[in-house]
Amino acid sequence: MSAAATGMRLFFAAWPKAEVAAPLAAWARETADGTGGRVTHSETIHLTLAFLGEVAVTRGADAVAAARRVDAPPHAFAIEVARYWAHNRIVWVGPREMPVSLGALAEGLRSELGASGFALESRPFAAHVTLIRRARAPAAPLEPPAVQWPVREFVLVRSMLSREGASYEVLERFALR
Ligand code: 2AM
Repeated sequence: MSAAATGMRLFFAAWPKAEVAAPLAAWARETADGTGGRVTHSETIHLTLAFLGEVAVTRGADAVAAARRVDAPPHAFAIEVARYWAHNRIVWVGPREMPVSLGALAEGLRSELGASGFALESRPFAAHVTLIRRARAPAAPLEPPAVQWPVREFVLVRSMLSREGASYEVLERFALR
């Protein structure tokens, strides 16, 4: 049996509403005039909270149950920095320092997933939103777009990789309260 029939590539993310995603996408298109690269579409902009990687289909329900146990309040954070990472050639935006509530959400989620036996990376959570891939280094420091991002829910997403890049399917939503 093929891996596609038994496994799925999953991650949890904060997924912005259109009024947040649209200015980020517009900024990315403009920035890519200088850096080149592949710009993230407005509909697929997200902030990864926990990356599960390839998971057996039969474990999907366990990931959902773990996420339902997460207790974190709705909050908002500000996009304050725009950076280029040379090691993976992405341009990303995010908060300057880890917002307390966002960090608590990611930590709570990772801890519940760990308790359910999911093997997560030991790499600490870095809040970043990838806006351009395969970019060249910008010629001058990037000025981030001024955007407030309200986080009222998070989502479980299935990622499907193809030659055209990744496509995403939101499998489940989890409201914060
Ligand atoms: P990236 O945008 O920095 O590439 C779907 O692939 C999402 O999961 C993307 O946001 C991606 O981050 C993130 N991701 C991919 N592989 C990952 C990994 N090994 N660890 C953590 N996050 C990962």
